[in-house]
Amino acid sequence: MKRIGLLTSGGDSPGMNSAIRAVVRKAMYERAEIIGVRRGFKGLVEGDFLPMDSRSVSGIINRGGTLLLSSRCEEFKTRRGQRKAVENIKKWEIDGLVVIGGDGSYHGAYALYKTWGIPTVGIPGTIDNDLWGTDITIGFDTAVNIAVEAIDRIRDTATSHERLFIIEVMGKTSGFIALYSGVAGGVEDLLIPEMPTELENIIERLEIGRKMGKVSSILVVAEGDEEGGAMEIARKIEDKVDYETRVLILGHLQRGGPPTALDRILATRLGAMAVEILLEGGGGVAVGWVNGAYKIIPLPEAWRKKKKIDPDLYLLNLSMAT
Ligand code: F6P
Repeated sequence: MKRIGLLTSGGDSPGMNSAIRAVVRKAMYERAEIIGVRRGFKGLVEGDFLPMDSRSVSGIINRGGTLLLSSRCEEFKTRRGQRKAVENIKKWEIDGLVVIGGDGSYHGAYALYKTWGIPTVGIPGTIDNDLWGTDITIGFDTAVNIAVEAIDRIRDTATSHERLFIIEVMGKTSGFIALYSGVAGGVEDLLIPEMPTELENIIERLEIGRKMGKVSSILVVAEGDEEGGAMEIARKIEDKVDYETRVLILGHLQRGGPPTALDRILATRLGAMAVEILLEGGGGVAVGWVNGAYKIIPLPEAWRKKKKIDPDLYLLNLSMAT
């Protein structure tokens, strides 16, 4: 293995740049070459490649976003698109590929490995934390901290005006960001796809809190919750609660800005591991951090197994709410 390709794909996440840096620097250290691919699988299909070296990644460990740009590519899902990608990989004499991204990116990485025989390694980069095979994904810790800061700030104004705030955080199919930011922000209630919630119960709990002297309340809702997003929930409950209600949708704010130290360290370790695996002749796998140890799993495990939230943490939060 002499030449490694590298791309970021899907929704960007803080720490992707730290991982890019780690892959490039580790490859240089091991005397391998690195070819960056711009805009994820789209760049692979279109042949948008750029040779990189140590200086290409100077000063990016602390920068959010991804230097290599990212996209979601429909063409790559077709056999024709994949053939074009493989032709470009061969033309550039790339021996193996590192793919940084989430669930969809892992599917792409596995297709290249299984159907076309290209060694690939996945690095978990998504704020959603919804990938099996790693306790945390790169970007999750940063996104949670951004949400917690928002909750803290909202608490100040909510209390001054005796209001209920409904804060929507990202997570299209998972409630990890909602759960962790909600617990850390000490919110009154949480709505996450993993725990079916009756709005009637939430209204009742808000009422109890009010009677016990609470002057403000905050609900955190994951965007993928079955009751709908924050606007929808506000519409459903605002006439039934003893608070004036306001809504905040955090949106893409959670995906930007400098990664936390935890995300940078995770990204650095996983980036270096991915290079080691390719140089040792491996492929078709993803790297992760499980129970305090760095782990390698076959790529399909990442989507065949479902990472679960901790229901005890959810219940613990409820027990703290009043
Ligand atoms: O998967 C990461 C994520 O940020 C989700 O939480 C969110 O639903 C989605 O991406 C948003 O995608 P886009 O950036 O395309 O609007």
